[in-house]
Amino acid sequence: MSKNTDLIVFGANSDLASRKLYPALYDLEGSQLLPERLRILSLARDDVSLAEYLESLETKVGPIIGGGRWSGKIWRKFCKRFSYLKIDFSEPEQYDALSDWMSESHTSIFYLATVPDLFEKICANLGNSDCLRGDCRIVLEKPIGHDLDSCRKVNGVVGDCFPEESIYRIDHYLGKETVQNLLVLRFANRFINTQWDQSCIDHVQITVAEDVGIEGRSYYDKFGQLRDMVQSHLMQLLCLVAMEPPNSMTAESIREEKIKILRALRPIDNGNVATHSVRGRYGAGWHRGQPVQGYLDEPGVVKKNSKAETFVAIKAFIDNWRWAGVPFYLRTGKRMPDKLTEIVICYKSLPHNIFSSGQNIPNRLVIRLQPNEGIEMQMVSKLQSLKEKMALVRQNLDLDFLGSSGMDRIPDAYERLLLDVIKGDQSLFVGRDEVEQSWRWCDSLISAWNQQAVELKTYPAGSWGPGKSEMMIERDGRSWNE
Ligand code: BG6
Repeated sequence: MSKNTDLIVFGANSDLASRKLYPALYDLEGSQLLPERLRILSLARDDVSLAEYLESLETKVGPIIGGGRWSGKIWRKFCKRFSYLKIDFSEPEQYDALSDWMSESHTSIFYLATVPDLFEKICANLGNSDCLRGDCRIVLEKPIGHDLDSCRKVNGVVGDCFPEESIYRIDHYLGKETVQNLLVLRFANRFINTQWDQSCIDHVQITVAEDVGIEGRSYYDKFGQLRDMVQSHLMQLLCLVAMEPPNSMTAESIREEKIKILRALRPIDNGNVATHSVRGRYGAGWHRGQPVQGYLDEPGVVKKNSKAETFVAIKAFIDNWRWAGVPFYLRTGKRMPDKLTEIVICYKSLPHNIFSSGQNIPNRLVIRLQPNEGIEMQMVSKLQSLKEKMALVRQNLDLDFLGSSGMDRIPDAYERLLLDVIKGDQSLFVGRDEVEQSWRWCDSLISAWNQQAVELKTYPAGSWGPGKSEMMIERDGRSWNE
């Protein structure tokens, strides 16, 4: 940690940099976790001085951090790390100035917070410049491509300049505290681990719901929810729930197990697409008591051409020994009633019920990623009552991560991930094979949607998606977790 480290941010004015990256770095500064000898270089096209740049950055980062944590003293210390360079990323000769700035560094971290279309160009330009010297790492944000072919192309160009162990592909869900806790829950608790397979588990549900719409994100209409959320975040959550225990917590061991799950994921194709998937798009409706417009009226959406879905529900199967016959129901959407991310492990009912009340209530384990990060074990216990002798009720054993941490907030995923890049720990980043295998699976589903002309069902903004999503799970005698 005592080495010189340079964090070089391409796209320093991007939404990602202002909303996620710099606030996380500020918080790390506040927690005194940034190495003393870390310098930050912001690269963008605007012709401004460093002072002007920092002034504008403060107006963006300040409100995100908020009154409680904002401190002029921390901000001033943070600002001392910064330099600013105006550069056009597609002009190779402009990389000389970057190279000159980098002369003192030992570890250089190139963070691409740009639109994905620029990844290939920036890597090629870095590769042809004098910038790649010493220990160089590159950080890429999703999406890596928009299908398997384009993903391979990006991976190929990046791979020509950087070895795989220097490439950090971010899926920010892996940096979320509860996602890491899922690994601890599974692999540090004997009783959980021994009940984690088809003999005990009836099915698994993964819900990633957002109450917001697309918020003017221009790329979204070309992607839709499957490419934007399922290919990355939901696939990663699925892998962490389903994978075998890795030998250790190294990136290599974890990736080996995740890739086995992605390979065992049964394709959704023309034969099962109608029963195993649902596509939806929000129409006009309500958000927190206010009327909101439908997707097609959002800025940036070309009404008559748009094919993007904003909701996906999937019934997936993992064809291996542990999960044979266990459905994984996944759903994700924009403009849902709440922002909610949870994984629900639904256990099988008991083989025989000895209680006369007639209920046979199966256990559920709810892993809440957001909000109120925690784990809830739904147990069955006796109703305290003299009138009813053996009535059963479902009660919760609740692990509230924030409450039990003694901290005033759960750190943001980007804080964890940035620290790990600086330390050179790849265990929470996505490997090349994983991202390609995940695209392979999604491509099959997209092609089945196209070939079977699967309809985009409209759902009102503020609802839990099209009725077909309820039908998909109810047909199997199950229901989404309330
Ligand atoms: C991003 C998606 O990766 O994740 C966005 O591109 C989405 O569409 C966001 O809104 C959700 O992240 P979080 O952390 O707010 O659940």
